[in-house]
Amino acid sequence: MTQVTEIAPDLFRISTFVPEADLQFNQFVVRDDEPLLFHTGLRKMFPLVRDAVATVIDPTRVRWITFSHFEADECGALNEWLALAPRAQAACGVVGAVVSVDDVADRPARTLADGEVIATGRHRFRYCRTPHVPHGWDAGLLFEETERTLFCSDLLQQNGEVEPLTRADVVGRFRDALLNYQAGPFANYLPWTPMTDGILANLAGLGPKTLAIMHGSTFVGDGGARCRDCAAVFRDVLGGRNHGA
Ligand SMILES: [Fe+2]
Ligand SMILES: [Fe+2]
Repeated sequence: MTQVTEIAPDLFRISTFVPEADLQFNQFVVRDDEPLLFHTGLRKMFPLVRDAVATVIDPTRVRWITFSHFEADECGALNEWLALAPRAQAACGVVGAVVSVDDVADRPARTLADGEVIATGRHRFRYCRTPHVPHGWDAGLLFEETERTLFCSDLLQQNGEVEPLTRADVVGRFRDALLNYQAGPFANYLPWTPMTDGILANLAGLGPKTLAIMHGSTFVGDGGARCRDCAAVFRDVLGGRNHGA
């Protein structure tokens, strides 16, 4: 039920498809001197994610717990991970720590400034502050500089039970998912703000070659071009005629 796939050297995608939501929930674990998790998964999904992580590393060795923004699928199992792994610490932006995490979590977070790097051994994770991209005041993303992997959170979400890795069209799938949500109770899932284009241009400028996407397939290829395409989808679907509740 939960699939584990190596999407880049020592970087694993853990994926659980939830039929009721027609959506995959993905977490990413990096095997290194200081193992890092991007997304804890939902609290109720913790046993599944823990057991999947255990096929890659000893889960009690997790050192860094990272995520984009404060939301249940991003960090709902944070306290379960803090209890399991004695050296684990959340790492997030200042807004996330001050506004939410340091109240809810059982241990305080390490706060990351824009551009700050967490070195875990062979890998280097650069924190990029991205307010309201994909969504949330506290949003940020990580870019792993050694393998050039961008951890995208909800950007480029694709619905359905899709393949772990693809070089094909994730942007068209993202557009379909947004249009689908715009027609129902999940409308305006992601905002389009005056900052969106600039943030996506900065992410494209990092030159990612793997896009580790939270819901859907991981994309391998020209990730910068896909970030620019993603900006066009935001403008088209959310910036104009479809911008209704
Ligand atoms: Fe989200
Ligand atoms: Fe999400």
